[in-house]
Amino acid sequence: MSFIIERLAIVGVGLIGGSFAIALREAGVVKTIVGIGRSKANLEQALALGIVDEISYSATEGVRDAQLVFLSVPVCSIPTTVQEIAAAIPPGCIVTDGGSVKAEIVRECEGLMPPGCFFVGGHPIAGTEHSGAAAAFATLYRGKRCILTPTSNTDPLALDIVSRLWKATGAVVCSMEPGHHDRILAEISHLPHVVAYALVHAVGTADAEGENVLSYTAGGFRDFTRIASSDPDMWRDIALMNREALLASIDGFSASLAIPRWYLVARIIIINGVSVNSITINPVSSIKGEITVPGDKSISHRSIMLGAIANGATTVKGFLRGEDNMSTMKAFRAMGIDINDDGDRITIQGKGLHGLTEPTDVLDCGNSGTTIRLITGLLAGQSFFSVVTGDQYLRKRPMKRVVEPLTRMGARILGRNQGSLAPLAINGGALNAIGYESQVSSAQVKSAIMLAGMYADGLTSVREPHLSRDHSERMFRLFGASLEVFNCGVTIRGGVELQAQEITVPGDISSAAFFMVAALITPGSELLIRNVGVNPTRTGVIDILKAMGGNIELLDERELSGEPVADLLVRSSRLKAIDIAGSVVPRAIDEFPAICVAAACAEGRTTIRDARELRVKETDRIAAMAVNLRHLGVVVDECDDGMDITGVERLSGGSVESFGDHRIAMSLSVAALVSTEAVIVSDTDCVATSFPSFFQLLEKVSCR
Ligand code: S3P
Repeated sequence: MSFIIERLAIVGVGLIGGSFAIALREAGVVKTIVGIGRSKANLEQALALGIVDEISYSATEGVRDAQLVFLSVPVCSIPTTVQEIAAAIPPGCIVTDGGSVKAEIVRECEGLMPPGCFFVGGHPIAGTEHSGAAAAFATLYRGKRCILTPTSNTDPLALDIVSRLWKATGAVVCSMEPGHHDRILAEISHLPHVVAYALVHAVGTADAEGENVLSYTAGGFRDFTRIASSDPDMWRDIALMNREALLASIDGFSASLAIPRWYLVARIIIINGVSVNSITINPVSSIKGEITVPGDKSISHRSIMLGAIANGATTVKGFLRGEDNMSTMKAFRAMGIDINDDGDRITIQGKGLHGLTEPTDVLDCGNSGTTIRLITGLLAGQSFFSVVTGDQYLRKRPMKRVVEPLTRMGARILGRNQGSLAPLAINGGALNAIGYESQVSSAQVKSAIMLAGMYADGLTSVREPHLSRDHSERMFRLFGASLEVFNCGVTIRGGVELQAQEITVPGDISSAAFFMVAALITPGSELLIRNVGVNPTRTGVIDILKAMGGNIELLDERELSGEPVADLLVRSSRLKAIDIAGSVVPRAIDEFPAICVAAACAEGRTTIRDARELRVKETDRIAAMAVNLRHLGVVVDECDDGMDITGVERLSGGSVESFGDHRIAMSLSVAALVSTEAVIVSDTDCVATSFPSFFQLLEKVSCR
């Protein structure tokens, strides 16, 4: 190989600088290497080991005539070193570094470069806990990533030379924006070091009745703390320079640490490392404080779906990262849609109405009814073959309600039990517009037909008995679709291209409902639930609880991405029984398990009717709530389309089960707050379907 550069100066010939030199020399891409540093012993050793050809104790002397200078000094010294050598480097010289923090270094060093010289930020992600020239070795970078962080000021030729040098060391080179680098490194490198130091400190100072606990440590502890033996001064400097990103990572980690802590508090049973998924909840004295519930599940699903078939990049803030929405995300990725989640927001690279590609495998919708039904509508209009399925619960839920209208539109859909149960195999294509009278008030049916209607010629209409949630109508309008809403129905025009949007998802009122009921039924409670979506097609639960005497105030009503939002202030109240039926039912459809708990604590007999749909949710919610409330001492009479619940003064303790249904698990956990004794709720992992942080939030507001 010919030389990439003739003369390389390395400031700081330790593990990083020394290994760079050895690897480049072995690759034969550099002619002469000058080692620069302050430690006589280290430099002489580097010379003796043949790592460098010449040495210099003065940076300004050493860099003279260098074509490229590599800085591997502590991060805080990089800008000062550049300042020192700036007047001494020859024209055309490239300066690059290996520091673990990039934004501040790149900003400062670019500004210090004399005209005609170039700075390129770099960071090889490699190292050991050892330091000094003697620790350097040729293969340190082989197969490891080296991140270069060019900016709009970076010279492309200089970038290419630095990149070729790193490739010659065996590193895998990639490029990214300096701030992005810092956020990634905060997570994967800076946080682990902070945690290692903190762990050693915590264990080293642990109070164990005068015993030095460290004398008992063995292999396991060493595995955790090897990195705590790294140079503390170096890591202090890195932490300070990447302060903001590292603070965010530490906060994220603290929140994660709270999870096992909570599980211990709640005595979740773990056998062979597998949670058997049962939780013991003790009564509380009150519910107090302030919470923000995670993003709305329905809106989150739709943001991915419409984002995928729109033109351009849609960004979504407040996206719910529950299992159901992850099923939607996975399905669209499997159809060729690029979706990026940077932790703050997700970005969907939309490919237009006809940009989806045939998935190479079955699309698994997990537990999510919204995913499977809406996606089936969308797939009906695609000119490729696909199969959708789900978990054991979803495979029992009725699909005829979407298969039938989609078949009428011209899609060919096969499924178990004459097309009424998943898996469904879909052969889609151009569709016919239809006018459809749905027998059920279901936003999933309505939305599936609307999505299919985008691929039909002309106007497709759906009418339902009572108005169901209208998130699809609102979001389609936001994306520029042509639609008209009429009494309990909607008409949409096919073939209209959608445009990418910036969406902010409000908190899910269905998740807030558990906390509303918790605060209402627990004496002495006052809870502020911030940023809750209060779309009128979803606020049935507020209307019902208020009619029962619940004290719920809507504060600071506003709008987010076409959806009404408010903060809810809830205070404990003496609830009384009411009769629930008619058009309020679809407006509160997911909240009935929580409403049943409110009814169990209300004075008198609450009746629920017109709610047959509850029997075909994640589980039969009428049967599930009836059997569980009876276990807690409540008299419940079931009927085909609802139930009667006679409230009791105090619920008794006992064992209840979720039947794998997230909303049943959370409702029973709320009931446990006001029981006379502990309640054991089994099968609680399912809360991750819609509300992964439910138990942490419950713990946060529970006063004992
Ligand atoms: C949903 C609609 C409702 C609801 C479900 C979410 C949606 O189902 O129960 O949790 O996002 O469209 P139905 O449309 O079957 O009533």
